[in-house]
Amino acid sequence: MTTPAKSDGATLTKDADLGETLLKVTGLQKHFPIKKGLFQRQVGAVHAVDGLDFEVRAGETLGVVGESGCGKSTMGRLITRLLEPTGGTIEFEGKDITHLGVGGMRPMRRDVQMIFQDPYSSLNPRHTIGTIVGAPFRLQGVEPEGGIKKEVQRLLSVVGLNPEHYNRYPHEFSGGQRQRIGIARALALKPKLVVADEPVSALDVSIQAQVVNLLDDLQEELGLTYVIIAHDLSVVRHVSDRIAVMYLGKIVELADRDALYKAPMHPYTKALMSAVPIPDPRRKHAKSERILLKGDVPSPISPPSGCRFHTRCWKATEICRTTEPALKELRPGQRVACHHPENFADQAPQDTVLLTAAKEAAELVSEEALAKSAETSAAVAAAAEEAAEASSDDAASSDDAGSPPESGEPSSEPGEPSSESGEPSSESGEPSSESGEPSSESGEPSSDDAAREPAAPSAEVKKQSVAKEADDDRQESSDD
Ligand SMILES: Nc1ncnc2c1ncn2[C@@H]1O[C@H](COP(=O)(O)OP(=O)(O)OP(=O)(O)O)[C@@H](O)[C@H]1O
Ligand code: SF4
Ligand SMILES: [Mg+2]
Repeated sequence: MTTPAKSDGATLTKDADLGETLLKVTGLQKHFPIKKGLFQRQVGAVHAVDGLDFEVRAGETLGVVGESGCGKSTMGRLITRLLEPTGGTIEFEGKDITHLGVGGMRPMRRDVQMIFQDPYSSLNPRHTIGTIVGAPFRLQGVEPEGGIKKEVQRLLSVVGLNPEHYNRYPHEFSGGQRQRIGIARALALKPKLVVADEPVSALDVSIQAQVVNLLDDLQEELGLTYVIIAHDLSVVRHVSDRIAVMYLGKIVELADRDALYKAPMHPYTKALMSAVPIPDPRRKHAKSERILLKGDVPSPISPPSGCRFHTRCWKATEICRTTEPALKELRPGQRVACHHPENFADQAPQDTVLLTAAKEAAELVSEEALAKSAETSAAVAAAAEEAAEASSDDAASSDDAGSPPESGEPSSEPGEPSSESGEPSSESGEPSSESGEPSSESGEPSSDDAAREPAAPSAEVKKQSVAKEADDDRQESSDD
């Protein structure tokens, strides 16, 4: 959310305009063991985060995007040290905090705070708002000027809540208000770095905008640095200065926001971007195609060899299957892990044989085809509705009080992230959260949970969803 680098000619390079490095992560890994049997023998591991390298500069907002289950929340919990890393290092202000214990992390907790993914489960229902927002002071033994109550009430008004509601309980607040309470709690100790895990995804669109603007204002007022995790690319585009794209526990592209949206270099980023309607009137009539990724996201228990995206990438070649591409800076400020990046010199030109299986794994669908498929879906839906009406009329006339007609509607929006209810709050040996870890999470998951694969919508469902987007797009254009 900082102003992008100024471009007054060749004299001022981008780097000269960037803040100091606040957080540096090198080779960060988190493998969750999968245990089975009477003796709880380890039979495998979920490679949730598998070698991340990035840095966060003071005052910037780093957005982190990726499909459900790619390791975003795990990464957030690692850098706030709510989880113990399996490998790699985390440096905060130049200090190695990778394996600091609870005592060692205590002073650091003031500087690094987290806003949790679910505003409904992250507040203890038995505590008042005053107790929740005041907890960090008590845990850190800090006595703010004027006392804890006064400071908590000030924080509540900073985030746009009524200070008089100090004695109310979480259930008396809406989702948006609860997220504000979470933000107030995270800000209590004036942190330097705030990691916000999907801060708005559980909220209505209008409330999302309020919370995003609030985070924006607070950043300006308090000079905060953010890592904002989201799966919604529109939100990330709005809030971020730089964006990291994750796929199966790895960063595949890391770049300035504008560079990433204008010219994504990693095929996966391109596929993600192509699913987002572009609110640019100049491009309204431009011929564009959307990339629909077919097939399921592979399991993080045994990720594919070489480039993890090779099973779904339409450009995959033999080298992609065998050799993992390193995250390299191919353009200034744009790091990409790909052998055959988009709009750039091929990194493995000798390797030209495309993997046929991979070629079939993605489909490039033109807008015309999407429009046609949207028409077909609408016609099918209308026919289904008519049939349902006719059968209910029949039922009514024959006085049959049997089961209601089946609807062909899918029960949930495809592509939505899975519910967080199975997300564990802790694992053995990990430092406990001192500032309000989600209270209603249910501890270590069973090995079956651990083996949960991120759900991917079927290709057919995706097609319908994209067709619907295309419809929305056309609606938008005609509104314009
Ligand atoms: N404590 C745990 N034990 C075992 N596996 C876990 C644990 N926590 C997360 N995982 C697994 O690690 C992977 C990454 O999970 P994570 O919650 O970080 O994904 P995410 O990108 O935040 O997804 P979402 O967008 O749905 O929130 C998933 O496969 C998940 O099942
Ligand atoms: S071209 Fe190869 S390296 Fe690049 S994303 Fe596709 S599979 Fe991975
Ligand atoms: Mg998550």
